[in-house]
Amino acid sequence: MTITSAQLDAHWMPFTGNRQFKKDPRIMVAAEGSYYRDSNGRKIFDGLSGLWTCGLGHKVTRINEAIKEQVDTLDFSPSFQFGHSKSFQLAELITSFTPKGLNRVFFTASGSDAVETALKIARAYWAHKGLPSKSKFIGRIKGYHGVNFGGLSVGGIEANRKIFGELLPANHLRETITSENTFSRGQPLEGGSLAEELDGIILSQGPENIAAVVLEPLSGSAGVIPPPKGYLERIKSICAKHEILLIFDEIICGLGRLGRASGSEAFGVVPDIMTIAKQLTNGVIPMGAAIVKSEIHDVFMDVNTPNYMLEFPHGYTYSAHPVACAAGLASLSILREEDFFQRVRDIAPYFESRIHELKECSVVKDIRNFGLAGGITLEHYPSEPARRPFEVAMKMWEKGYYVRYAGDTIQIAPAFAVQETELDGLFESLRDSLS
Ligand SMILES: Cc1ncc(COP(=O)(O)O)c(C=O)c1O
Repeated sequence: MTITSAQLDAHWMPFTGNRQFKKDPRIMVAAEGSYYRDSNGRKIFDGLSGLWTCGLGHKVTRINEAIKEQVDTLDFSPSFQFGHSKSFQLAELITSFTPKGLNRVFFTASGSDAVETALKIARAYWAHKGLPSKSKFIGRIKGYHGVNFGGLSVGGIEANRKIFGELLPANHLRETITSENTFSRGQPLEGGSLAEELDGIILSQGPENIAAVVLEPLSGSAGVIPPPKGYLERIKSICAKHEILLIFDEIICGLGRLGRASGSEAFGVVPDIMTIAKQLTNGVIPMGAAIVKSEIHDVFMDVNTPNYMLEFPHGYTYSAHPVACAAGLASLSILREEDFFQRVRDIAPYFESRIHELKECSVVKDIRNFGLAGGITLEHYPSEPARRPFEVAMKMWEKGYYVRYAGDTIQIAPAFAVQETELDGLFESLRDSLS
């Protein structure tokens, strides 16, 4: 079905160059497994699992059946003051994927909402403990934490922040890409000591004023930046020393992309609060969650008010939506039963060797990878850092591949069941496109 120009005009698309897109639309009409079908009938390889969402591939029968059954049984249930059984089942199932101790789940409608929820929990936690001045946050340059004001404040992608005026008070750690650690395979050996900077930032702001440090264990949207060896461990111990909460935004890292249930597990560092979304429902229905340690949750419950009063005045109409819960239960069950974490670990070395072959291309400045996530930084055109990735992604689209272009990077994150031959095709096309 053709889309009219009035229809194209009516939809203001997110994170898209609308003027370019509407001159030359790229329209998906169907999806199955690792492939889309576009409006010209072409088969397109999905090189980013949707938007880091669909690690199990598209059109997964068990998820779709669960959704259909749920819509026919209980299509909506009020998320405030009433419940339905699937949210409790899903919460318990999620806690079997999170590190020990992180066992209280607050559902949200998206990843950005999960981050806002985590930030609000952190501030309210300290207020309940009689320390309301602990309200500032520390993020990191190149961090991405969604698009709401809290997430933007702790986020460190300047292009996303600068036009929106005053944000929440936040400081930012330096990014961890350095001249010594370019083209690292997996976690860079250099750069762990960059974490020491956190001590100075905390002392300059006063630990009594800081609620939490917020990091993606591996930065995804900025172009896949794995943490240097020792970095997260050091961050954790500095947070503990100053009694500051550590929040891991696992919206890309969590639930399989790194070959483990979480970035926390992959890198061996346990935060106080974790956020997830995307892979939680295999992207089929929007849903996110903030998962907290029971000690944090219990501080909210230990209040001396009548038990019908709210402990946390926060939540979304679509928190724990029954259809999303049904999708989440099916998705997480498949992840576990079919051991997709092991599958990612098995294919990751091949992915790593193929992506790093692109180092030979003269426009490639850096390549990073971990699990089934890869980022390639490209040489800028003078004062146009975003142009080359756009051009490369458009060449890939012509060749039948969808890859993400963002900032000065190309990002790759195929489905967990990707085959070696599919990776061969993807990286050979990418090599052609880069040259
Ligand atoms: C680490 C991280 N946090 C937060 C978000 C925001 O999630 P959403 O787009 O669902 O609001 C994203 C989305 O890419 C993300 O990668």
